Amino acid sequence: MPLVCVCSPKGGVGKTTLTANLAYALARGGSKVLAIDFDMQNALRLHFGVPIADNRGYVARSADQHDWSQSILTTGGNIFVLPYGDVTEEQRLGFEHNLLHDPHFLRRGLSTVLNYPGLVIIADFPPGASAALKAMSELADLHLVVMMADTASLSLLPQMENDRLIGRPLNNKLGRYFLLNQSDNRRNISRDVTAFMQQRLGDELIGMVHRDESVIEANASQRSIFDFSPVSAAAFDIELIAKRVSGLLDINVGNGEVSATIRTQ
Ligand SMILES: Nc1ncnc2c1ncn2[C@@H]1O[C@H](COP(=O)(O)OP(=O)(O)OP(=O)(O)O)[C@@H](O)[C@H]1O
Ligand SMILES: [Mg+2]
Repeated sequence: MPLVCVCSPKGGVGKTTLTANLAYALARGGSKVLAIDFDMQNALRLHFGVPIADNRGYVARSADQHDWSQSILTTGGNIFVLPYGDVTEEQRLGFEHNLLHDPHFLRRGLSTVLNYPGLVIIADFPPGASAALKAMSELADLHLVVMMADTASLSLLPQMENDRLIGRPLNNKLGRYFLLNQSDNRRNISRDVTAFMQQRLGDELIGMVHRDESVIEANASQRSIFDFSPVSAAAFDIELIAKRVSGLLDINVGNGEVSATIRTQ
């Protein structure tokens, strides 16, 4: 089971939007995909048509329910969602305490899905260095760090390059790659930051997504960009990134059967 983490030092850069649409793109490529939400905003589920009033999730029950797969929601296609759920402050603190202090907590909670053959897991995180991001760095095969094509993201680049986000490298398997979101050629700053990031990051930049109004509209209608606006710039960009992610994970799709081999560095 390849496991991809989508994170960022910055808030509001598009982590949740890209997690959801990469899940859609990987599922379109033939993979079975599980999208996991580690952010208490509990917004990832909304990208898969889960009603806003549906507050179910794995976190509230994680202290007693060792296997979190019982909280997975099906979405009708090849995509499954594990929502964070609506939690009390006490439940959130308990979850974070377990993540930080019980070395088996995460692996135990995810054991069923980790052992599900061929399942691709993609996880969304809150901004910054969360307890979940720290705990997940042991299990993840790949980290995607979302940055926006603006000066605020640019100022945080050294922090990421020097592994200061969680105090150690995010990923020791396939590594961490940057993903530049909301690049806009019509804006001078965006154009300059995009050019700088491309030059500075080289192959570490896995792709770029244009700023595209259809992304906002697709989100508002709880649909994927591929369903809402298949010929949009963002749909093209995200599809390309999904292909690169599949290539890194070595996901081979054929006759409905998915096999994944993790290459270790
Ligand atoms: N490529 C894009 N073009 C236009 N708008 C975008 C694009 N990507 C994301 N957005 C918009 O940016 C906003 C923030 O996106 P999103 O919630 O995915 O960010 P986030 O990083 O998950 O935020 P948070 O840190 O709060 O979790 C949303 O309104 C979303 O519709
Ligand atoms: Mg988010």
